[in-house]
Amino acid sequence: MKVLFASSEAYPFAMSGGLADVAGALPKALRKRFIGCRVVLPLYSSIPEEMRQKMTFLCNITVPVSWRRQYCGVFEAHVDGVIYYLIDNQYYFKRDGLYGHYDDAERFAFFSRAVLEIIPHIGFTPDIIHCNDWQTSLIPIYLDAFYKYDSLYSNIKTVFTIHNIQYQGKYGYELTGDVLGIPEECQSLLEYDNCINFMKGAIQCSDKITTVSPTYSREILDPYYSHGLDNILNQFTYKLTGIVNGIDTEVYNPETDPLIFKNYSVEDKKNKAVNKKMLQEELGLPVNKDVPVIGIVTRLVKHKGIDLVKCVFEDLLKADIQFAILGSGEWEFETFFHEMSEKYPNKVGLKLGFNPMLAHKIYAGADIFLMPSQSEPCGLAQMVALRYGTIPIVRETGGLNDTIRDSGDGEGNGFTFKSYNAHDMENTVWRALQGYSDKQGWATLVDRAMKCDNSWKSSANAYIGLYKELLSK
Ligand code: GLC
Repeated sequence: MKVLFASSEAYPFAMSGGLADVAGALPKALRKRFIGCRVVLPLYSSIPEEMRQKMTFLCNITVPVSWRRQYCGVFEAHVDGVIYYLIDNQYYFKRDGLYGHYDDAERFAFFSRAVLEIIPHIGFTPDIIHCNDWQTSLIPIYLDAFYKYDSLYSNIKTVFTIHNIQYQGKYGYELTGDVLGIPEECQSLLEYDNCINFMKGAIQCSDKITTVSPTYSREILDPYYSHGLDNILNQFTYKLTGIVNGIDTEVYNPETDPLIFKNYSVEDKKNKAVNKKMLQEELGLPVNKDVPVIGIVTRLVKHKGIDLVKCVFEDLLKADIQFAILGSGEWEFETFFHEMSEKYPNKVGLKLGFNPMLAHKIYAGADIFLMPSQSEPCGLAQMVALRYGTIPIVRETGGLNDTIRDSGDGEGNGFTFKSYNAHDMENTVWRALQGYSDKQGWATLVDRAMKCDNSWKSSANAYIGLYKELLSK
């Protein structure tokens, strides 16, 4: 079975969020299970030199973008047994950052067409093209509109994975002709709520739709979570499933992780305490092994539940606890946490920004990990925290609901709450702190957390099952 995995970002080339982790790890897991999975992504100027060194030039072609043809260089790289194709066009991809440019619609229309156009030139005809999020949503539409008549393409099936329904690729009608080159008879596929909506097109045209957790696949049928797409999704529930992401257990491994202060394992956890001590030092917090440290690593935006944290933060600080906070985002939250760290320097350790090194140190050094998201398609941090023996407190939504079970019943691996309500969250923090004060009970919980298997094993098998089902039709 051959799968071409199309993504706008992939670790270790270009990363801005969880999609990059998935595009880095899932193809690797599929290859290990003898699925011929190759990845295609744009050759952004931000791709580091060391990764460029691994690339070789394969060919160059031209790719139609509506009525014009644009240069497309194809580079190939081999990383961890996976073959990557990088699509080169400096006009589109020699930019700051990955997204956020006035012509993103055209940039990813070009990329989507390029994914289809390179197929005859790379010696790899996929059985399945696996598309991800709005940036690759036009692929199933272009496939139907321009390529299906060609025998090389006629059997190709498409899977579309929604990592985050909030970003849909919405544009004005004026783009369909000259920019996207969508034939008139296909335009209705993209129309939704008086605009052009890339994601809606993929929902309609792809053979299967997946979300990155089973709970999220149900949630997005509801207007509270769907960002307007529930109507169209409800028409296609027969092709919608949820498969929870895994984490890369080689990258996130407390036994070998070079980014943490001292390695430790489920058999020998004593160095976790060293990580806590050194984290406290690094963040300028008083070193004290008995004070519970609550870690938060997140974008500081509302849908991550940061407004709940803000609402009860000073109440929580009445207890003998410390916070280790890393993130960047909305001004309102950045200034709030900055003020708090100045007002309570012995209780709030804060670093504003994106810093993977410190993130790993918090996963390893904190006792508790707080992730009260309003919505969370899957979430990776809670699974990473588990692996480092840091007990998650989460809201029961999306992937958080599928990976964390409340320990109140004597079996779970964390603490959970249901309603999106600051005081429910606060009560859950109190419950966790009570749990922490029982040293023996907490050690059992840490042990159980570290033994959870959130590797890609069962999720990769679930994707293989899905691909097989599709090809047997
Ligand atoms: C998005 C989602 C996150 C998910 C990730 C990978 O970033 O917000 O919940 O884990 O994609 O699928």
